[in-house]
Parts: sequence; structure tokens; C-alpha cells
Amino acid sequence: MSESKGFSSSFGAIAAAVGSAVGLGNIWRFPYICGQYGGGAFLLVYLCFVFFIGMALMITEFVMGRRTGRTPIFAYESLVQSPKQRLWRYAGLLGLVTSFLILALYLVISGWTTNYFAESLVGAHIGLDSVAISDHFDFFSTSALRPIVFIAVFLLITGAVILGGVQKGIERVSKILMPVLVVLLVVLCVRSATLPGASAGFAYLFKPDFTQLTGQGVLAALGQALFSLSVGMGVMIVYGSYLPKDDNLLKTSIWITVCDTLIAILAGIAIFPAVFASGQDPAGGPGLVFMTLPVVFNSMNPADGLPIGTIFESIFFLLLVIAALTSAISLLEAQVAWGEEYKKGKSQRTRNTIVICLLMLALSAILSLSNGVCGNFTIGGKSLFAFVDQLNSIYLPPLCSLCAVIFLGWVVDKEAIRDELSNHGTIAIPWFKGFLFLVRFVAPLALIIVLVTGIVNSL
Ligand code: PFF
Repeated sequence: MSESKGFSSSFGAIAAAVGSAVGLGNIWRFPYICGQYGGGAFLLVYLCFVFFIGMALMITEFVMGRRTGRTPIFAYESLVQSPKQRLWRYAGLLGLVTSFLILALYLVISGWTTNYFAESLVGAHIGLDSVAISDHFDFFSTSALRPIVFIAVFLLITGAVILGGVQKGIERVSKILMPVLVVLLVVLCVRSATLPGASAGFAYLFKPDFTQLTGQGVLAALGQALFSLSVGMGVMIVYGSYLPKDDNLLKTSIWITVCDTLIAILAGIAIFPAVFASGQDPAGGPGLVFMTLPVVFNSMNPADGLPIGTIFESIFFLLLVIAALTSAISLLEAQVAWGEEYKKGKSQRTRNTIVICLLMLALSAILSLSNGVCGNFTIGGKSLFAFVDQLNSIYLPPLCSLCAVIFLGWVVDKEAIRDELSNHGTIAIPWFKGFLFLVRFVAPLALIIVLVTGIVNSL
């Protein structure tokens, strides 16, 4: 598969990176943790983390990727200043392992999403009450075969995009799907916001309630900021290596961060007013999307005639499939690109993609089975799924992020960073000192606090 390496335009680059950032984290996770930890109060803290720490990390990864044009392990290796520092390549390896594990979990939830989209198309949830819908979810997510079939379908689509290459696959698909995602989301927001009784949903989401904002909530805000911006596992190093050389890295990062945050807020608006309007429990947690929302959509169906609620249900799950797809693409690309670089020069994209997809399918299938038939196999009293989920949410991303900021802030030559951020001195970067301060002190401190508290709480 020969094509010039990298994205062909700034718009394509931003679409692909926003595609990576906008995913299940925005539409499935952000709304429920925002509601859980005090609505507007959580939002304020989240915004600070996203714009200061999350964005500093994104710029860090972009600098490492674009400066070296390489994937994480090799990017770390190329930026060290003495042979002793080559050990830093293990930080890149940690990122690669983290993105592999995250992708395996992500595929399980994406498989559920694809199944729910297919079910909504044939009206499978019509007429079911909330108990029946919860039972349905429990039965489906713990069954052996069906979730794996849908993981395979989703993975096949993801793999096909990766086979298309960076420009003709990732960039082209992102440029089409991201605008579609925004349109679908706006349609759902308008429907949700205009339902009678919707205002209670807005209050839940936006009215600051500082009594709900616990220390746990503050930690959740930082964890969510990292996950949502796709930083902390080297994926943005890979995308950074594809960025056009004359892109202004600060501007690109601001675009991605603003789009990602707006979409998370819009997802909250699409969900909570409708949940309140239909009298459902907003604190559905992780099951909100699969157990609460189908009931909400059912309640919009008229007694006879066109099942309009079910049509909105299909739109919602299509939106979620698209969001998950563009994120999964970036996670898979990180693996495939590493494989290509490892085999230096030989174009092995097709073979790598197939091998990695098969490995991913096997791991995701095992994780899926650990929710059901293999539930007896536990690690520290947790199912394999819950164990990997804990690794991915508490330990690995903050640890990888910490490595990246310490590396850029304390190991890499400052002049090289300045040169990269200013596009070889062609743009002014009056914010450079502030950025360095964030990367050297603020971000490491925040990440150490998150990491230590996470570890202590989980013991
Ligand atoms: N940012 C994605 C989301 O919010 O769902 C998840 C994600 C994608 C995390 C890619 C990390 C990553 F490298």
C-alpha cells in the first residue's frame, strides 16, 4: 500500500484527531459522570483539566510525533540526548501495550453498540418495559456468541479503514463521518431539549452542585479529560507524526480540544433532558446507554403509527457506532504503524493489519466471555474484564502521561521543542514558557496525585 505518509491537509488532520478524541468516552461516559459528580461543578473542573493538562499533553505528544516522524517507542528513542537515556523507549512500549489493552476493551463495548444499533433497526426493543430491557442487556452481554460476532463485525470495518491507509482510509473516512456525527447529535439534542419536562435534565447537567463534587469527582474529571482527548498512550504521537509540517500545533490542539468538549456537552444535552422527560433514573451509570435509553426511546413511541422513538434510537446508536469507530481506528493505527516501523521500510501494512486484528479479536473475545461463561476465572476477585478496565482507567494512562511530560519537560532538548512548536521559527510562540511550566511542574504533580490516589483507593 504505497502512499505519501501523513495527512494531506490540516482539515483532514483535525477531522482524524477529533475522530480519535470523540468516542464512547464523550457520549457514553462523560454525561453520566458529569451528572454523578455535581453537574456544572464537575464541568468547571473538567474544563480546567482539559484545557491545561489535557491540552498540554496533546501538544507534548504532537511535538514528539511530528519532530521525529515516528511511532512512540522510536520517537522516545530518537529524542534522547545520551545512550543511557535510551531506556525511555520502554515508556513508548508501555504506551503501546496500554493502547492495545484499551482497544480490546473498547471493542467489547463497540460490539454491544453495534448489536444495539442492529436491534434498533428491526425494532427489537419496542414494547419492552424497563425490567425487560435490563434483563435483555444482562442476557446479551453475558452470552457467549452474539457479543463476539458483533465485535468481529465492528473490527472488520475498523480493519478495512486501516487497510485503506492514512490518507485514503483514516483521513477520508474521518472527513465524512465527523460531520455526519455532528448532524445526528444535533438532531437528537433538538428532540431531547424540546420534550416537555426537559428543563430538569438541563438543571441536572449544568446547575453547579458543589456538594456532589467529591475528591473522587476531581480525580474522575482528570481521568476523563485524558481519556477523552486520547492522550497518554502514544496514539497522538502517531497522529502527530502524520501532521502537516506547517500546521500550528497550538491551534490544531485547541481545535481538537474545543470540538471534543463541545461534543461531550451536546451528548449530555441529547441524553439527560430526555431521561428526565420520561421519568427515568438519570444515575444509570455505565448502563445508562444500554438499559435506560432504550426505555426512554420507547416512551416516545406513539400507541400506534410510526415508531418515532425507535427511529431516534437507531439514530442514537448509529451516532455511537460512528464515534466508537473513529476512535478504534486511531487505536488500531497505533499498533499497525508500530508494526510497519518495526519491520523497517518493508510495506507490511496488509499483513500487519490482519495479524493485529486477529490478536485483538482473540483478546476481546476472552474479555467478553469473562462477563459470562468464563466469569469464574477471576484476578484479585475481579473478572478479567473488570481487571483490565481497572488497569486502563486507574493505572496505565496516567502513568504513560506522566512519562511523556517528564520526558518532554526534563529530558528533551528545549531548543528542539521550541523549534518544533514555532515551525522552525516561522510562527511566534509567546506561550512557550507557560507551556514548559505546565509540562515540567503542573502536569506531573497532578498526574502523580491521580496515580497515587487511584492506587491507594483500589487497594
Ligand atoms: N478518546 C476516546 C473516547 O473518548 O472514547 C477513547 C480513546 C481513543 C482513548 C484513543 C485513547 C485513545 F488513544
